Amino acid sequence: MRSKDMPIGIFDSGIGGLTVLKEIINKLPAENTVYLGDTARVPYGIRSPETVTRYSFENTRFLFSKHIKLLVMACNTASSISLDAVRQSVSLPVVGVIEPGARAAVSATRNGKIGVIGTDATVRSNAYANAIRALDASAEVFSLPCPLFVPLVEEGWTEGTVAELTAGTYLSDIRDKGIDTLVLGCTHYPLLKAVISKTMGPDVKLIDSAIETAFAIRDILSELSLLRADQAAGSREFYVTDSPEKFVAVGERFLGSRIDVITKIELSSEV
Ligand code: DGL
Repeated sequence: MRSKDMPIGIFDSGIGGLTVLKEIINKLPAENTVYLGDTARVPYGIRSPETVTRYSFENTRFLFSKHIKLLVMACNTASSISLDAVRQSVSLPVVGVIEPGARAAVSATRNGKIGVIGTDATVRSNAYANAIRALDASAEVFSLPCPLFVPLVEEGWTEGTVAELTAGTYLSDIRDKGIDTLVLGCTHYPLLKAVISKTMGPDVKLIDSAIETAFAIRDILSELSLLRADQAAGSREFYVTDSPEKFVAVGERFLGSRIDVITKIELSSEV
C-alpha cells in the first residue's frame, strides 16, 4: 500500500539528475526524496543499450528497497533506452524525462521545427524524435549529439571561451535548420542554458526537460492522491556508487543547496 509519506525515488548516471531533483524540490518541496547517482559507472551516454538497460534495472531495484511511491528516471540516456522495459516490470508509476520534454517542445514550437541535443546514446535511440512525432506527426525534428557538454559541466566550465567555442561548433548546423525550439535532452545541459541561448539567439526557445518532468510528477501524484501536503520541507537522502566527496562538491552546485545525508553503496545485479 503506497502512502503520501513514502519518498520519490530518483536515479541518474551521476550528478546530472540533480537538475531534475532541484526542480522537484522547487515545485514539490514537501515531498521526501531518495536520489541515487551511479557515479561509479557514469557516463551512460557512451554505452550500449544492453548495458544502460542493465544499469537501469539495478538502480530501480535499489530504489525499490527504499519503499518509494514513484520512480523518476532523471537520466535522459536511461529514459530513452530503458523506460518502457522498466515500466513493464514494476507496479509503481515510472516517470522519464523524454515525454515531458517532448510535450513541452510541441506546445512551444510555432514553425514545427524542433531541435534535440543529447548524448550519443540518446540521439541514437531516436526517443525524443519518436515522442515528438507521436504528438505531432508533421513536426520536423533535428537531433544532434553534443557529448563534450557533459565533461564541460562536470568541470564547472559552464561559461567563458571554452564553453562558447564548444557550443558554437556543435550548434552551428542545427541553428541553420531554422528551428524555433531546442530540447536540452541531457541532465547536464540546463547548466549551459546561458551559453546555448547566446549561441542559438533570442528567437529559439530552450526546453528544459527537468522542469517539465517535475510538472509531470506533480500531476501523477495528484491524480493518485499521493501528494504530500505537509508544510515542512521533505527529507533528502542521497546514495552514490563511488566516493561521495566529488559528488557533494559538484552536486551542491547543480542542486543549489547542501547535500548532508549521503551514503556509498554497492549495487547488486541479483534479481
Ligand atoms: N545523465 C546523462 C543524460 O541525461 C548524461 C551523463 C551520462 O552520459 O551519463 O543523458
